[in-house]
Amino acid sequence: MERVVVVGGSPLRGTVRASGAKNAALAILCASMLCPGRVVIENVPRIKDIEVMLELLAGLGAQVQVHTDGKVSVEPPSRIRGEASYNLVKQLRASNLLLGPLVGRFRSVRLALPGGCNIGARPMDLHFKGLQALGATLDVRRGYIEGRAGILRGTRIYLDLPSVGATENIMMAAVLARGQTVIENAAREPEVVDLANFLNAMGARVRGAGTDVIKVDGVENLVSEVHYAVIPDRIEAGTYMVAGVATRGEVTVTGVIPRHLEAVTAKLREAGAEVVEAEDSVTVRGTGPLGPIDVRTMPYPGFPTDMQSQIMALLTTVPGTSLIVENIFENRFQVAYELQRMGARVRVEGRVAVVEGVERLQGTSVRATDLRAAAALVVAGLAAEGRTEIHNAHYLARGYEDVVAKFQALGGEVRTDP
Ligand code: EPZ
Repeated sequence: MERVVVVGGSPLRGTVRASGAKNAALAILCASMLCPGRVVIENVPRIKDIEVMLELLAGLGAQVQVHTDGKVSVEPPSRIRGEASYNLVKQLRASNLLLGPLVGRFRSVRLALPGGCNIGARPMDLHFKGLQALGATLDVRRGYIEGRAGILRGTRIYLDLPSVGATENIMMAAVLARGQTVIENAAREPEVVDLANFLNAMGARVRGAGTDVIKVDGVENLVSEVHYAVIPDRIEAGTYMVAGVATRGEVTVTGVIPRHLEAVTAKLREAGAEVVEAEDSVTVRGTGPLGPIDVRTMPYPGFPTDMQSQIMALLTTVPGTSLIVENIFENRFQVAYELQRMGARVRVEGRVAVVEGVERLQGTSVRATDLRAAAALVVAGLAAEGRTEIHNAHYLARGYEDVVAKFQALGGEVRTDP
């Protein structure tokens, strides 16, 4: 999917179902390497990032099977054969989540150091700090993380930042360590909670996930057969909600956990959209008058950075002056320069973007720079007048299952342009 063409102008109307959460599934697939037996994971989204992760696990010696209905089974090896190659790691930064399980169970790891990406430097100092505190020796040599460990011993670790990845890597490494590990200032994201629930389904003893203090009591062994279903993707769901409001339509997303969408729901309501929450679905209506809002991205339960580009696309068409502050990543405003090509009035000053709403965006050719920027450009194209051609649209396939079909189901004129 190199290019996607969007013809804007008509409100989205209808219902789509959320897929499994990319960022929960990626962490859970890494954690499956801790299991001495077979792991069956359901509700895994069929997206490129998952394909690459499965290739990585197979390259390490795991038996991997993808079933048709979003079910994946993984049978980890009894010892690691091969390494996580740079070729695969450069495609998927989340491969860094193999660090914890490989050190935790196999006591050794050789993993290409994922570089930075378009949204920031993505350092791993907190991952290293945590694993070294547990007793691992980690070096970076010629672009590879090389790790060794004897017996890992539980300890208290304070995270300077509530890093999702560092929390997850430390949690996974601590599962088989001796004694108790306490992670302070831990990330509270739902994907962290889902990983903790998966680890406990494997016989681990993780408590406090979802709060800023997580306790892991090391165990000797894990069970040898695990079945688990991944939570729905709150960022995918939020993207369709924002698209519904941006096109002044009415969209229902089913199969969600409304609580996980609270910050997005609150901001859409503040902007004047109607949002109705049911047991496992959310309906948005953008038909009424909309007004400007301020958005600050924060760790969960704050407004998610992964929704920042998408809400910027919406706000470029909302009358008045909106303010967006990106507190998580240092370079996550690149989509603003593509939106300017569509007639948006966005001024970027460091971590702050000032958005002056315009009457209509104008369709044109634009280029995606990352996964969420690509999603934001689809939202903008649907709200714009005329035709928008999105280049580098392959980013979309990394994180949005059946994205063209889902937008078409809502009446969006979206198609791939081979
Ligand atoms: C996870 O990335 C998600 N990826 C990201 O989603 C998401 O944007 C991010 O969490 C924040 O919610 C996956 O779960 C696979 P962090 P992660 O460690 O774990 C700094 C998407 O679009 N930091 O919470 O890498 C870091 O530079 C992706 O789906 C350190 O300084 O994010 C950043 O500024 C994009 N040192 C901040 O913390 C460290 O050791 C948050 O990063 C680690 C992180």
